[in-house]
Amino acid sequence: MSENIVVPSHSGKTEKYEALAPQLEALFSGETDLIANLANMAAILKEVFGFFWVGFYLVKNEQLVLGPFQGPLACTRIGYGKGVCGKAWETKQTQLIPDVEAFPGHIACSAASRSEIVVPLLKSGKVMGVLDIDSDKLADFDQIDQTQLEKLVSLIPVED
Ligand code: SME
Repeated sequence: MSENIVVPSHSGKTEKYEALAPQLEALFSGETDLIANLANMAAILKEVFGFFWVGFYLVKNEQLVLGPFQGPLACTRIGYGKGVCGKAWETKQTQLIPDVEAFPGHIACSAASRSEIVVPLLKSGKVMGVLDIDSDKLADFDQIDQTQLEKLVSLIPVED
């Protein structure tokens, strides 16, 4: 297993995401445990992009329950359709939220959070969890993040 993730340091975010994809794939090819893979993915995204909060919630007994993450303390449970994460679960669609205060029902785990992107993790068409990334800046995520994060999330091995 490679011990370091290498991304071009002075490149734009598209290049960074594109450099990450094959390295994540290589990492995932050597490990089948979901939690181990999600933990490494959260660590890598935090290291490469410096996100304020990045992590996963997993569907357990009809709730989203906090999984591996990097960043400040977070809420542990989110209901179906609740907050941005619950909305991604309900709609099976990425939620790109430029201003969390303008999102009805946003769950403020941290008062510092200003914008957010949540990408659902699908297994056989069912949402099994979400990738949630928060920023302390307004409108910090765009269509590039959405497209690239959806690609990265699709690389996570979710077979039994
Ligand atoms: N803001 C999220 C809750 C999770 S935290 O941001 C880590 C939401 O509204 O679902």
